[in-house]
Amino acid sequence: MIKWDDKYSVNVSMIDEGHKKFIDLINKAARVQKDNNKRASAISEILIEITTFSKKHFRTEETCMVDCKYHDYKSHKDEHNRFSEIIPDYWEELADNELKVIDAILEHLKWWLTNHIQGTDRKYVDCFNKNGLK
Ligand SMILES: [Fe+2]
Repeated sequence: MIKWDDKYSVNVSMIDEGHKKFIDLINKAARVQKDNNKRASAISEILIEITTFSKKHFRTEETCMVDCKYHDYKSHKDEHNRFSEIIPDYWEELADNELKVIDAILEHLKWWLTNHIQGTDRKYVDCFNKNGLK
């Protein structure tokens, strides 16, 4: 179980709210992974939530980047796109009834928390704060 901590904060409350939801999603995926009687429907629910979440959240961040004329917008957006592009592969595995796909999904979400949220996202903090986003 991962708990929200200030180490995840990017100092912009609207974006932190999104990242809190993302941590909820990780915890939900971890519960499904641990369930010995896991069902495909629980995994598809997670995939749907990931898709809905990322569309909305990425749009929020990308709008802020454009508004603040953030210098690294393009490569940041590319990372968002790569996150989304992998989701259809998970759907395919699930369609073959490969319930172990939840392992890969969870791994992907945790990787994202460490490498994107605590890495790439952190780089826009100064720019956003200087432009009045808090
Ligand atoms: Fe981001």
